[in-house]
Amino acid sequence: MSSGPYLHGHHASVLRSHSWRTVENSCPHLIPHLTNPSLKILDVGCGPGTITVDLASRVPQGSVVAIDPSVDVIEKARKHAEEKGIANVRFEVGDIFNWKDIDGIDGGGFDIVHAHQVLQHLQDPLSAMKEMKKLTRKGGIVAVRDCDYSAMNHYPPHEGMQKWHDLYRATAKSIKCDPDIGKRLHAIAMQAGFPRSDIDASVSAWTFSTPEERAWWCGLWAERSTKSDYKTRVLESGLGTEEDLEEIAQTWKEMEGKEDGWFAVINGEVIAHNRS
Ligand SMILES: C[S@@+](CC[C@H](N)C(=O)[O-])C[C@H]1O[C@@H](n2cnc3c(N)ncnc32)[C@H](O)[C@@H]1O
Repeated sequence: MSSGPYLHGHHASVLRSHSWRTVENSCPHLIPHLTNPSLKILDVGCGPGTITVDLASRVPQGSVVAIDPSVDVIEKARKHAEEKGIANVRFEVGDIFNWKDIDGIDGGGFDIVHAHQVLQHLQDPLSAMKEMKKLTRKGGIVAVRDCDYSAMNHYPPHEGMQKWHDLYRATAKSIKCDPDIGKRLHAIAMQAGFPRSDIDASVSAWTFSTPEERAWWCGLWAERSTKSDYKTRVLESGLGTEEDLEEIAQTWKEMEGKEDGWFAVINGEVIAHNRS
């Protein structure tokens, strides 16, 4: 099985949002499971690796392997680990559907198999979850977290934000991905063979409201709308035009300027315990 196109691509505006991520701000569901310093972790779809390197620093006697199909982003992740002086991490170009081709990745080999904001970008998230289960040892966990675009919210109201929201979700669906997957991660885990009683489901949010947070969040969406692979996908899908995307970028700039601006990104989280 192959993965489809990654909707956002790895433009600087996209990597800026991924590189901000840490265990603390992006994996609150996982923190209680990181108490053993010898854990073996697999990070699936690691992107530029800031969460991965943070995970590795929390398991100094253990190790982290991280995979991502993008050669460029894996290069960036390796550089980030080097700069942070973290050595117990290995980044490999690879795909969750082809893990058998990757050296050192074995079925049942990991205490934790983690994927952050990845399942929403896959056309077959259920098969991915099944592969993640196979990679987890008995007694280990699969940990996933994805946002739910249908649950995102903002203040104050702005007509243009609806246009952004509708276009983003329609474009993701046009490449057969689910932008609202955060609300059904537990259901996917059940379909993958985890009994409901072995699944912890939770929700946590990112909030962007201070001037700095608004500048960062709104600025990156303004840029993403006009410069990243997302723009190409919108145009290819025929769902929007260059003018639509320019208008959406303008909306984001206006939202950034609103002193009472507030944005909530709701993330669904699942810890699935592999007891079989
Ligand atoms: C939204 S990014 C998340 C990056 C990182 N986990 C983070 O939260 O910062 C999604 C990543 O999944 C990767 N990806 C896409 N398809 C994949 C697949 N089949 N197997 C593994 N990773 C995949 C993309 O290349 C991209 O880097």
